[in-house]
Amino acid sequence: MSSFEVLMKRCWFVLLLAGSAFAVPSRSPSPSNLIANIPGRTTVSLNGAWRAIVDPFENGKNGFFRDAKPNDKRDLVEYSFDASPVLNVPGDWNTQRADLMFYEGPVWYRREFEFHKRPGTRMFVYFGAANYRASVYLNGEKLGDHEGGFTAFNFEVTSQLHDSSNVLVVEVNNVRRTDGVPGMKFDWWNYGGITRDVTLVEVPATFIQDYWVQLEKGSTHQIAGWVRFNGPVSHHEVTIQIPEASVEYKTLPDENGYAKFTFDASAIACGKKPASQCSAPLKLWSPESPKLYRVVISGEGDSVSDEIGFRTIEVHGAKILLNGKPIFLRGISMHEEAPFREGRAFSAEDAQTLLGWVKELGCNFVRFAHYPHNENEVRLADRMGLLVWSEIPVYWDIDWTNPATLENAESQLRDMIARDHNRAAVILWSVANETPVKPERLVFLKQLVQEARELDSTRLITSALNHVDETAPDVRAIADPLGDVLDVVGLNEYLGWYWGRPEDAERLQWKMSGEKPLIVSEFGGGAIFGRHGAADERWTEEYQESLFEHQLAMVERMPNLAGVSPWVLMDFRSPLRMLPGVQDYHNRKGVISNRGQKKLAFYTLQKFYAKQAKENH
Ligand code: GCU
Repeated sequence: MSSFEVLMKRCWFVLLLAGSAFAVPSRSPSPSNLIANIPGRTTVSLNGAWRAIVDPFENGKNGFFRDAKPNDKRDLVEYSFDASPVLNVPGDWNTQRADLMFYEGPVWYRREFEFHKRPGTRMFVYFGAANYRASVYLNGEKLGDHEGGFTAFNFEVTSQLHDSSNVLVVEVNNVRRTDGVPGMKFDWWNYGGITRDVTLVEVPATFIQDYWVQLEKGSTHQIAGWVRFNGPVSHHEVTIQIPEASVEYKTLPDENGYAKFTFDASAIACGKKPASQCSAPLKLWSPESPKLYRVVISGEGDSVSDEIGFRTIEVHGAKILLNGKPIFLRGISMHEEAPFREGRAFSAEDAQTLLGWVKELGCNFVRFAHYPHNENEVRLADRMGLLVWSEIPVYWDIDWTNPATLENAESQLRDMIARDHNRAAVILWSVANETPVKPERLVFLKQLVQEARELDSTRLITSALNHVDETAPDVRAIADPLGDVLDVVGLNEYLGWYWGRPEDAERLQWKMSGEKPLIVSEFGGGAIFGRHGAADERWTEEYQESLFEHQLAMVERMPNLAGVSPWVLMDFRSPLRMLPGVQDYHNRKGVISNRGQKKLAFYTLQKFYAKQAKENH
């Protein structure tokens, strides 16, 4: 985005804040520059052991990117990647080295690799994520910067790449920032590092940058979408094929290399056969049958194939409809924390373990809190039949009036949607979690909601709210103005833990204005696995079990209830939880311990979902 555009946007944002009485004027979000579907491309992994220099005073800014070496014994070079220890990529540095567990600051990574570019191809380097800010250099040349610890980014390296040995240097800095997203305080460990895969991606001179192939809103056979090329286009045909459903559709890109389309898959699949002899070509994706189709998109000399499910998701009054039928979301919230070893989860195995537990609970829904989780988890949810709530880390209080903070949140939103917009599993985009009710926050979040709708009109927009009014002794009203612009309202309430007693749930009544679906996106309480005692003794499994029993009975009486995702699947590391012998820097609200041990509440929830599944079948 040019500095002029940045300037225009900032003036626009300041104007907006000044005149917040006015509606949010529309301005189309610029597309993400992310390359879609890296698993479906020709790639070379750069994962492995990278040399790393821990640089608390950011002294390396002067030149570490050059990876200099003394030419001779008189030369003074006061750093050496060759002599520095390694850190594994992907992986956070905190759980790899005890001396870095609490480290917040810059670390310089270096990866040397041999590469021989094939003629007529272009090369990109793709990062799944790096927390929090990354500056990337190849062979001493700056490629660019990225801010945001949980979204992917890529740079073209066609001209910087040497046809032999190459040196990739990345400065990663996880220092928290007052203008950051998230801000200075959050209830998860600030794991730093290159936390997801690093990949070299080879594409043709003109290639398919991104595409969208989904069912049109409210239709079970009309497919709508687009294909966006990067590079000169020669207006050759673009083909979208779904071989298993006998669907093939051709169209042409416009002068900007953009091909928009909509077509009736039934009509195409049926061809000349009378409709009576034709069954619906597409089996709809659902948790019970998570059908994925191989979809091949080709044009301009490039071809990409992907596994895509087709389903519709919409709200109807207080109901969420999947494929036109009301669905109750039996969920759990989870962090992207690795089971057993702790640290940031990233691998397919981590995803299998975590989502395996989610399935074992009897869930058809999972809330990925509070930031976009890795692609392994999202694609596994697609295959397993788990509906997904995906969120950007606009968490608690941030710098609402700072245009740079809005831009940052918008780019994280854009990149979250860009990476996962073809995943049938993802049904909810959440723009924030537990944010304070104040005018500047409302303006900020309304802008994000508007942008999310423009980027994706097929999914539901939500946020986890926690502002409730005590309208009478045993009555709580969900009263947050942000709720008015959401499709689905998420509510975090900690009755029985941060306020009241678990048994108070028996009397409490909830009120909600407006006819919208409600998801109780968080409730919960802490327990130490293996600590047993009376149900009113904090930190025992019995206390957590009793809290879950009371909560689940209460939520069933709540208005507009369409789903629930208790806090939280597994105990996770947090810098806010310091009670010795109990928390030891862990949030203990998991129904499973960080060693994979199931607490009593796990079975309480499992039983509740078994009953729910039977009733809603
Ligand atoms: C909040 C928040 C979570 C946090 C949880 C807790 O509601 O959304 O991130 O961990 O409560 O206090 O345990």
